[in-house]
Amino acid sequence: MKKIERIGVLTSGGDSPGMNAAIRAVVRAGIHNGLEVFGIHQGYKGMIDNEIHRLKSRDVANILHRGGTFLKTARSSRFRTEEGRKQAYLNLKKHNIDALIIIGGDGSFRGADFFSQEYDIPVIGIPGTIDNDMYGTDYCIGYDTALNTVVDAVDKIRDTAGAHNRLFFIEVMGRDSGFLALRSGIATGAEAVLIPEAETHIDELKKYLNEDYSRKKSSGIIIVAEGDDAGGAYKIAELVKKDYKHYDDIRVTVLGHVQRGGSPSAFDRNLASYLGIHAVKGLLEGKTNVMVGIIHKTPAYTPIEQSTKHNKRVNPDLLNCITVLNAYENNLDFNL
Ligand code: F6P
Repeated sequence: MKKIERIGVLTSGGDSPGMNAAIRAVVRAGIHNGLEVFGIHQGYKGMIDNEIHRLKSRDVANILHRGGTFLKTARSSRFRTEEGRKQAYLNLKKHNIDALIIIGGDGSFRGADFFSQEYDIPVIGIPGTIDNDMYGTDYCIGYDTALNTVVDAVDKIRDTAGAHNRLFFIEVMGRDSGFLALRSGIATGAEAVLIPEAETHIDELKKYLNEDYSRKKSSGIIIVAEGDDAGGAYKIAELVKKDYKHYDDIRVTVLGHVQRGGSPSAFDRNLASYLGIHAVKGLLEGKTNVMVGIIHKTPAYTPIEQSTKHNKRVNPDLLNCITVLNAYENNLDFNL
């Protein structure tokens, strides 16, 4: 295997808080190991357009605490074409870049895996997505920050919901996964959580809300993951509203991209720094086509093929937790 002397780093797909901390860690770990590090701007798009610049230690000063990604990110359709990837490869050669570190999610890793095999360039992925749905890691960069953003917002909505006797449907991100919805639901005492991994039955939801109301609850919070099979929060609220008489009003809040921004939490800064260092270490040990994650507090390298193929499953016990935490004296029949 060719000795690695120059590496490229890029962020791709949806941004997540902590990506800057990961870039910083890659640059500093590279320098620590005697490598030259190049930042590729705007993900694969910048690789094709030769937006590639050397990054020195000071270039990544003061970014650790910032949300977004200073390298910017993009979703590139040109990288899906043979022509686009060839141009990207030629640009890497121009800069004598021997290996790549990709910070992103599912789609970004699949592109990296394909490119690596096509052009024999070692790649390592670092999981950065608020969805937390990559297999091969307990946590993805950005998830903890997004979770805290959601909890903060839901707590605020809970105040106004109570003041007006309203039922709120709050939509959180998660096209294919319910991690954010479930964990925020537990942390905010939501009355129910609807996620893509579990079928939603509107009739059962109405029955449940009726029971809830009969317990003299005057307000409620239902968290809906955007990818729920019954539709988004607006659609579900409409279906419930149709013949539902309780509560003074039913309202919907879609939290949207506020979940993707903000200063990363201490947890995400630590995670990103650790994974950045271990991505560089992995490359230098000859690892390729793997994602570096953290499992039981230990770095773990999982073949990209697996990390993208097996969608990480939410723990079904967490859905049970929502039920148990809404227990009421006249309803002791819980399925533990
Ligand atoms: O994958 C991260 C994510 O935030 C998803 O939860 C969400 O569905 C998607 O990105 C939104 O992407 P965009 O910002 O391109 O609309």
